[in-house]
Amino acid sequence: MLRRIGVLTSGGDAPGMNASIRAVTRTALYHGLDVIGIRRGFEGLLDGDFVPLTRSSVGGILMHGGTILRTARCAEFMRPEGVNAGAAKLRENDIDALVVIGGDGSFHGALELHKRGIQVIGVPGTIDNDMAGTDCTIGFDTACNTALECISKLRDTASSHDRMFIVEVMGRNAGFLALETAVACGAEFVLVPEIPADIEAIIKKVHYAKEHGKTHSIIVLAEGVMPAHELADKLKGKCDYDPRIVVLGHIQRGGSPSCFDAVLAAKLGYAAVECLLDGKMGMMVGRIGGEIVASPLQKAWEERRPLDKDMLRIMETLSI
Ligand code: F6P
Repeated sequence: MLRRIGVLTSGGDAPGMNASIRAVTRTALYHGLDVIGIRRGFEGLLDGDFVPLTRSSVGGILMHGGTILRTARCAEFMRPEGVNAGAAKLRENDIDALVVIGGDGSFHGALELHKRGIQVIGVPGTIDNDMAGTDCTIGFDTACNTALECISKLRDTASSHDRMFIVEVMGRNAGFLALETAVACGAEFVLVPEIPADIEAIIKKVHYAKEHGKTHSIIVLAEGVMPAHELADKLKGKCDYDPRIVVLGHIQRGGSPSCFDAVLAAKLGYAAVECLLDGKMGMMVGRIGGEIVASPLQKAWEERRPLDKDMLRIMETLSI
């Protein structure tokens, strides 16, 4: 019988993680369950770094960036002995089920716990949006908004100085963050890991744009393609600009969640506890076509979600 659940955040933090912790906690309390927060992800699980979560301890955190439970990437949890120790820790502390909020790396750990008989549900939280089983992960929308705000400012100075800016955005091996941001900010070019980089095409396009009166250029580069300085070296001397580079980096992981992310976090946190109450295990919750759906945890990484073809076409069309 389900009496006490644990919740942890793991991997890279993402805006909206606190809103998810709140949603999980409040839904569980609503149903009469006790909630234990596990600090520092799987690392904290192994150390027994636990804190009871109450209605008021998750009050006022909704719009805070980061995660009140803190997070970590835990190498020890990649070994079977580490996972065995984690499962034992949960049992010793009478934690009947666990909600793991994080990306696909965290879901690998969650699946291993599930294989050892622990009831686990995953909530997708990462700015990368690189997980199948959901159209959007918690934090992605906010990260895109942050990048958009930064690039809008860069465009001001790019147009004043007739400059090219190469803006490197995060996303690990996926181009979702880059493509979404590039369309939103009206970039002249986007480079994503899913499509081989064509430097000649960039050079041609920059020349064409110059001939047609464009005096500045913004290239959005996904970090998974190559570092910004490498792209700048490839372009130097080949087009009429001396490119400046900006690496947005971890700034994309901070800040208050957007309305979209706060609502997504509420829906998925709520759904995760509902799944536990229904006896589901080894599943993740996600939002597909507006519906909240549960899928096996492995779906997150076994199917690589492709970039939206329409978005690629829109990018190509609007950046002539
Ligand atoms: O997965 C989220 C993410 O921000 C990626 O976009 C990025 O590649 C990575 O984490 C950075 O990790 P770290 O914070 O460990 O440097």
